Amino acid sequence: MENEYKFTSHSEEDTMELAQNIESEKFPNMVICLKGELGSGKTVFVKGFASSLGIDETVTSPTFNLVKEYMNGEMPLYHMDVYRLEDSEDNGASLVDYFSKGGVTIIEWSDIIKGSLPEERLEIKFKVIDEETRVLTLIPSGQVYEDLLSAVL
Ligand SMILES: Nc1ncnc2c1ncn2[C@@H]1O[C@H](COP(=O)(O)OP(=O)(O)O)[C@@H](O)[C@H]1O
Ligand SMILES: [Mg+2]
Repeated sequence: MENEYKFTSHSEEDTMELAQNIESEKFPNMVICLKGELGSGKTVFVKGFASSLGIDETVTSPTFNLVKEYMNGEMPLYHMDVYRLEDSEDNGASLVDYFSKGGVTIIEWSDIIKGSLPEERLEIKFKVIDEETRVLTLIPSGQVYEDLLSAVL
């Protein structure tokens, strides 16, 4: 049975802090899938995670490429935003190599490449409640992600 966890974020800082707590449990080949409408906080989550990894570059969503690689933190961070694949035939098959390169991959709009995602992963759905409030639903697939969430939440 799949567990799910709810987390209410009352501010951008809350979302960053959750990302930082998850970062503290990182491991090679970790995959985090982010879903939710535009402006719901997906990129904010990535910023928090990246800062906690010690990455000093400014994190913005990749535009020209689907993935941005940040190599100067404690572990490589691969930040994907696959929104623009939505209306194309591309199912993200070219991205799967990233999932086993030893870093952490975080994917915005992950549903668009559903078929290419690893079975074991952490999914986070962002729901906008009001200007500052977001309800996050966290769904672990696989024991490591189960354990990670019990440690963090
Ligand atoms: N609780 C919250 N968590 C995350 N972002 C929030 C929150 N409250 C307000 N915001 C604002 O919402 C916007 C989220 O933007 P962004 O992370 O780029 O969204 P997405 O990547 O999902 O399109 C930012 O302007 C941020 O300041
Ligand atoms: Mg974004």
